[in-house]
Amino acid sequence: MRVVVLTGAGISAESGVPTFRDADGLWEGHAVEDVATPEAFDRDPDTVQRFYDARRRALASVEPNPAHRALARLEGALGDDLLLVTQNVDDLHERAGSQRLVHMHGELLRALCASCGAQPMWDADLIDAPPCPACGVTALRPDVVWFGEMPYGLDRIEQAVIGCDVFAAIGTSGAVYPAAGYSALAAAFGAHTVELNLVPTDALTPFDEVRTGPASITVPAWADELIAAASASTGRAESDGMER
Ligand code: APR
Repeated sequence: MRVVVLTGAGISAESGVPTFRDADGLWEGHAVEDVATPEAFDRDPDTVQRFYDARRRALASVEPNPAHRALARLEGALGDDLLLVTQNVDDLHERAGSQRLVHMHGELLRALCASCGAQPMWDADLIDAPPCPACGVTALRPDVVWFGEMPYGLDRIEQAVIGCDVFAAIGTSGAVYPAAGYSALAAAFGAHTVELNLVPTDALTPFDEVRTGPASITVPAWADELIAAASASTGRAESDGMER
């Protein structure tokens, strides 16, 4: 059973990481165009650097929640048959143990050198314009994909979505493409699509299955069902093999 999971800010909400479009969301304090666009960075780099420096520092005070840990367990059971695609730039999936992971919107804990293209791991502030470890030029920015920029890993993601049997969207509003189009793409290629969210989103192509509630409750239950199904099918295959 090949599974693709797409996560959004909602999976990290119960860890204390603010979402973008909920009432107390991250964008509340900032207009997107003032902090999450290349134009904003050109216009006012310090404001943008301070916005991301604050979010990077905040990672030290949050922990993965049961939803992140359940997806790491699911990877343990499915191995290469699971691909975890996240729109999140936090490192909570990694800290929960997930390894087969694509950060399609980049990572707070990486910097991007606008001069040489290097993407060094980075856990310090960027406001003081430190030199790029690779080329020495003071041209480091957050390695976060801004509006209007190309997300990472699109070919790999699309191949996985087209080939999967189950596609799950967890804690995402479906407001931003291309991520918002993946459930429809999966459905068009015959996958069973599931949405796990606090409230149902009004996706253009309805999900086959919608499970509402906090991710820390719905994701472990859903993941454990898949793990049980995967082990049952492995057991059947082994017993068939023994009977031959
Ligand atoms: N459990 C499950 N879902 C939750 C929870 C929770 N505890 N709390 C919030 N949610 C859901 C909300 O109902 C909403 O559908 O998480 C979703 C959060 O939506 P957004 O704030 O829009 O975040 P996201 O979908 O990840 O945004 C996508 O937009 O701003 C850009 O690049 C940014 O990656 C981000 C992208």
